[in-house]
Amino acid sequence: MRIIVHTGKGGVGKTSVSAATALRCSELGLKTIVISTDTAHSLGDSLDREIGPEPVVISPNLWAQEVDARYSMDKYWGVFQKYMVALFSRRGVEDIVAEEVTVLPGFEEGAHLLWIDKYQREGFFDVLVVDAAPTAETLRLLSFPDVTRWWFERLLTFSKGAARVLRPLARPLLRTELPNREAFETVEVLFDTFEKVGKLLGDPATSSMRLVVNPEKMVIKETQRTYTYLNLYGFPVDAVICNKILPDEVTDPYFDQWKDLQRANITLIGEAFGELPLLKVPMMARDVNGLESLRRIGDALYGDKSPISSMFHGTTHQIIPDAEGGYVLRVPLPFANREDLDLYRSADEITLRVGPYRRNIVLPHALWKLEIGTARFEGASLNIQFVPKR
Ligand SMILES: Nc1ncnc2c1ncn2[C@@H]1O[C@H](COP(=O)(O)OP(=O)(O)O)[C@@H](O)[C@H]1O
Ligand SMILES: [Mg+2]
Repeated sequence: MRIIVHTGKGGVGKTSVSAATALRCSELGLKTIVISTDTAHSLGDSLDREIGPEPVVISPNLWAQEVDARYSMDKYWGVFQKYMVALFSRRGVEDIVAEEVTVLPGFEEGAHLLWIDKYQREGFFDVLVVDAAPTAETLRLLSFPDVTRWWFERLLTFSKGAARVLRPLARPLLRTELPNREAFETVEVLFDTFEKVGKLLGDPATSSMRLVVNPEKMVIKETQRTYTYLNLYGFPVDAVICNKILPDEVTDPYFDQWKDLQRANITLIGEAFGELPLLKVPMMARDVNGLESLRRIGDALYGDKSPISSMFHGTTHQIIPDAEGGYVLRVPLPFANREDLDLYRSADEITLRVGPYRRNIVLPHALWKLEIGTARFEGASLNIQFVPKR
């Protein structure tokens, strides 16, 4: 199963692009499902159909689903949920409040990962298109396995120990049972699943992450941050999709300045995501609603190409820890003229200028407090060393 994830800020067109991509795949004869993990669901509007928390058939080879965290949690996570509620209510939290807080941040995203695992295991679909929630939640979704396992192992070792000591004494006092073997086993299975899905999403042979932007400065800036973090976690980003570009047919002088601004911002996209291919979608004459308009978006995006082919095979920028407690930022600059390089740095950003070529990279938090040591070309990459301040 091929997995294509679209992510980006709210309103840029993730849902429209996801629906269009899925429709295109289905019309190429691939069994395709598009799932929306955004709580602000609008997949139904895009496909012009009522969609629910289980897959519904849209057209031949095409299914759609709006993942509902609470629903998925109840379905796949019932035992564990009961355990968590018991844990909280033992500490005096009202049942109804406990029910609420057991959907902890990050767990909602976890629910979506369970569906990805299910479809992978069943092997029925050829393609899974994920319309992912706005940026921050998506990053949480992707880093969920690592971060939460750490957090959970502590909670569990604590309550496991506590259960052993307390059980004989505590039983008559408690309204609910202490955690039982079944609950622990559920949790173990769950984390194995998250880890499996994490690996799947990190494997470029299976997954492609595509960044959806508009030709707007703030949107591009924020998506750059996402890009850096996706690279950091090792998720394969293989394209940038710029949606809502005013087309040449629009000649009304009223839009002249908008068109100039968009052109300048498309140049910014080149500087921000240099190595990635850029796919463009024009601003349509009306909103995206129904299969006909989705087909038009699919044509603009892919022409006669298939959405499932991997669009980028090179390396993107990488951040590699070194032995001295620092990091090396490796930026591919295959066409750079080495004699003519300028490097500017602010706390959270690096700008490289090589002749007419500019590249701008948002730095992750771990690098903010470090200083630049050396900057060297090795092969087709520029390696910038970050060292602790002396
Ligand atoms: N290329 C486009 N031309 C015209 N309208 C668009 C285009 N792409 C998206 N839209 C409209 O913009 C709005 C936001 O799009 P949507 O796909 O829901 O974004 P997101 O999922 O990123 O929030 C919707 O009303 C959609 O119909
Ligand atoms: Mg959406």
